[in-house]
Amino acid sequence: MNETMRAKARAHANIALVKYWGKRQLKLNLPDVGSISLTLEGLTTETTVHFDLRLTHDRLILNGEERPEDSKRVSEFLAGIRKTAGLSCFATVTSTNNFPTGAGLASSASGFAALALAATRAAGMDLEDAELSALARQGSASAARSIFGGFVEMSRGKKINGEDCNAYQLAEREHWPLKVVVGITSKARKSVGSTEGMLSSAKTSPFYKSWVDTHPADLSSMRDAIAEKDFGRLAEITESSCLKMHSVMMSTRPSLIFWNGVTVELMHVLTALRKEGVGVCYTMDAGPQVKAICLPEHASRVEDAMRSVAGVEDILATGMGIGACHLKDVS
Ligand code: PMV
Repeated sequence: MNETMRAKARAHANIALVKYWGKRQLKLNLPDVGSISLTLEGLTTETTVHFDLRLTHDRLILNGEERPEDSKRVSEFLAGIRKTAGLSCFATVTSTNNFPTGAGLASSASGFAALALAATRAAGMDLEDAELSALARQGSASAARSIFGGFVEMSRGKKINGEDCNAYQLAEREHWPLKVVVGITSKARKSVGSTEGMLSSAKTSPFYKSWVDTHPADLSSMRDAIAEKDFGRLAEITESSCLKMHSVMMSTRPSLIFWNGVTVELMHVLTALRKEGVGVCYTMDAGPQVKAICLPEHASRVEDAMRSVAGVEDILATGMGIGACHLKDVS
């Protein structure tokens, strides 16, 4: 038992090379497609959970501000942990991101991974990574990947109870320590949440079926590219998966267009660089930020090129990170 009912954890954001968009089951939050990601070293969430007998409701303090509007999702997540641990008290969740929140930079991935670890430890539970990942998935499917470091795959699975839908490490970061340069083109919060967007895409995009049907081939090619450290192949599949996902988003009714003009400008700049022989490719998620995946020897050239594009507000350059970890120092 954790006498203090308090624990702290750190988790990193992750960027999908083969994307996930769409749910096959809402209640357990099961994805309709598998995905493959890189865990990022420099984009972190640190979360402290304190179960406290004096509280009358759960509280969320995000980046130093009380967030009653976001606490419902956190509270629903904590309810499952309370039930398993036999706890009846509420908690204060204090969470800090070192990067813009809710702007397509996977803050929900690092957020729910850190929350799953901190909340279970605070409740006196000590879960295996696979169990922690399945729990994190229920908060945000991409969070299941942030429990692990390096290259991570999340499988779609087929079973209705979700037991074959799990994330696992494909390779350690030391296997192929790629770099990621993120071009921030807007720090505004996104207007449509991903769950709402995914449900709408499945219902209305004429391309949704092809997206799902072509996924197994992308996953298989990406596994090979990573195993063989074949950057050309990784780049081709990464961009193709990103563009397929955005085609589904754009053809959703009403349409989901997450890019701005600077996003498109950066795509052209990075494509031109690759034509010159630079080991780089781009990917974007449900937001306008451009993530350039690159070979370590080309990272500074990529960073300089992205910095010189008008409208780029900030650049975050980082390497690959480790999985979620429990922090002993609870402050
Ligand atoms: O963060 P989630 O679980 O709501 O899903 C977002 C999915 C994308 O970031 C758009 C793609 C991906 O695979 O990370």
